[in-house]
Amino acid sequence: MLLEKMLQSQGFGARKHCQQLIKNGAVCVHGEAVTDPKHKLDLNGLAFSVYGERFEYREKVYIALNKPQGYECSHQATHHFSVFDLFDDVLLNRGLQCVGRLDQDTSGLLLLTDDGQFLQALTHPKKHVPKVYQMHTADPVANEQIARLQQGVELRNEKGVFAATEVQRLAECQLQMTVHQGVYHQVKRMLAAVGNKVEQLRRVQIGQLDFSSLNDLAEGEWVYLSAEQAALAKFRAESS
Ligand code: URA
Repeated sequence: MLLEKMLQSQGFGARKHCQQLIKNGAVCVHGEAVTDPKHKLDLNGLAFSVYGERFEYREKVYIALNKPQGYECSHQATHHFSVFDLFDDVLLNRGLQCVGRLDQDTSGLLLLTDDGQFLQALTHPKKHVPKVYQMHTADPVANEQIARLQQGVELRNEKGVFAATEVQRLAECQLQMTVHQGVYHQVKRMLAAVGNKVEQLRRVQIGQLDFSSLNDLAEGEWVYLSAEQAALAKFRAESS
C-alpha cells in the first residue's frame, strides 16, 4: 500500500493532508523518515510514527472501554459527556462507533470499532450475544424475583418474553445476570417488571469476553483488543 493511502486509512486526514505530512518529514517508517508519499509499504507488522508519536498499522480497530457513569454513547451527547470525548481525532477519523449502547448511568465494558461487520455480528437482534450485568438494587432480591427473571418477563411495547440466565444473588441487594437481547433499558425494565429497581448497573462481560481479563482498566481507560479477544466477544454470535 502507498504510504499516503496507509496514513489516510489510519485516520490522519484527507489524502492531501497526508501527502503534506509526509513531505514535511513528519512520518517515519520503522524508524526512518520517508518523504515520498508514493513509497510502497508492506503492511505486515508495520510500525510508523507521526511527529514522533508511534503507531501500529491496524486494518480495523477493536477497543474495550471501561465506560464511566455520566457518559452517553452518542456522538452528539446532549446532557452528559460523550464516550467519544475519550478518544483522539486519529481514532475518531476512522469512524469509530459504539457496539450497542449503554445508558449514561451504566458503567463497565463497552466495545467500539470501525469494523461494520463486527458491529453487525454483535448487535443484530437475531444473534443473541449474551451480556453479563451486575447491579445494585433498591430492595433485597427475593427468590421469587430471581425465579421470575429466569422464567421471563414481558416488557411494554416489546415483542416476546425476556428471560435472564445465570442469575446469581451476590449480596442482599446485588445481582448478576446474563441477558440475550439488547432492547432499550432492558435490565432496568426487567428488574422493574419483577417489582425491584436497579440503582447501579455495570456490564462485566460480552460473549466470552470477560472484563476481568482486561487487566484492571480504570474507569475511562481503554485498550485495543487482539483478534482473539475480539472473537471472544462475538462468541455465540455466529453460531446462533
Ligand atoms: N440494560 C439497561 O437497562 N441499561 C443498560 O445500559 C444496559 C442494559
